Amino acid sequence: MSDDFRVARKTLQNHHITSSQSFTKHDLEYILSITSKMESGIHSKTNSKLLDGYILATLFFEPSTRTRLSFEAAMMRLGGNVITVEQAMACSSAKGESLEDTGHVVSQYADVIVTRHPESGSADRIASKSIVPVINAGDGPNEHPTQALLDLYTIFSEKKKLDNLKIGFLGDLKFGRTVHSLVHLLRFYSINFTFISHPTIAIPQHISNILKEYGCQVTETEDLESAIKDLDVLYVTRIQKERFSKDDNYDDLKDKYQLTQSLLNTSKADLTVLHPLPRVNEISPAIDDDPKARYFKQAENGVYMRMALLAAVLGKSPNQTM
Ligand code: CP
Repeated sequence: MSDDFRVARKTLQNHHITSSQSFTKHDLEYILSITSKMESGIHSKTNSKLLDGYILATLFFEPSTRTRLSFEAAMMRLGGNVITVEQAMACSSAKGESLEDTGHVVSQYADVIVTRHPESGSADRIASKSIVPVINAGDGPNEHPTQALLDLYTIFSEKKKLDNLKIGFLGDLKFGRTVHSLVHLLRFYSINFTFISHPTIAIPQHISNILKEYGCQVTETEDLESAIKDLDVLYVTRIQKERFSKDDNYDDLKDKYQLTQSLLNTSKADLTVLHPLPRVNEISPAIDDDPKARYFKQAENGVYMRMALLAAVLGKSPNQTM
């Protein structure tokens, strides 16, 4: 193991993962490397007891299919156990308990906590009183750092590099927390960013400013037909209906973009199409079998990356037993 990886391993151990902005480039490379080992281990059916005796608590105050189930599968794949509340709103927060008290108490029952909540900063509040690592699985429109990690792993797996790529982000870039977290990771690489959206749901200016400070090329446009032609990766997002107030223009925006086969045919032959899922109607199911469509493989990668992250925050290396 290189010195850089040794430092990353030590940094991540017992570390709260509440924002993708806290990662260093070495942290990312360490996590990508462990994720790859986890993927190989699963494919070769190598049994692992790396997290035998450890307990994961999942506290989801918002709906989830992929994030929650892939975290729970990841823990079980590594021999650990999971405790959960069926609906977090049915736990004592419904009686007025603070997120800080919930974090304090649940951290006495588990070795790591994964949480999703509609409020920005909620994971930090839970982490502030937790005695075990807390992982943010989505805090309102703010961040979704573990989705960003699996997106980074997927881009690397598909393109075999992370530098010199032209990546387009399409859809709801204002409320799309997966986009916010992913661009913070991509700022370490030589990426040409194209943000494609209606101006009312454009990428927040403070994020595009950070990218410009890092020397990244940033273009903003509404024109998907022109933008798609020279992209290496197109990252599509759903319009986040649940984040709109009644007065906002969700109905005007929901059908503005749809990726169809005819549009896809105008893109580069090796375009990779990603989407954090769930989708509504922004990607036609007719393109699911096109080799450019990699969003279901992206969702699969979530298990491998979350295995890597759970092992990292619990101070375990897959070399120990895999
Ligand atoms: N990508 C994602 O966060 O999916 P879920 O809402 O199903 O967890």
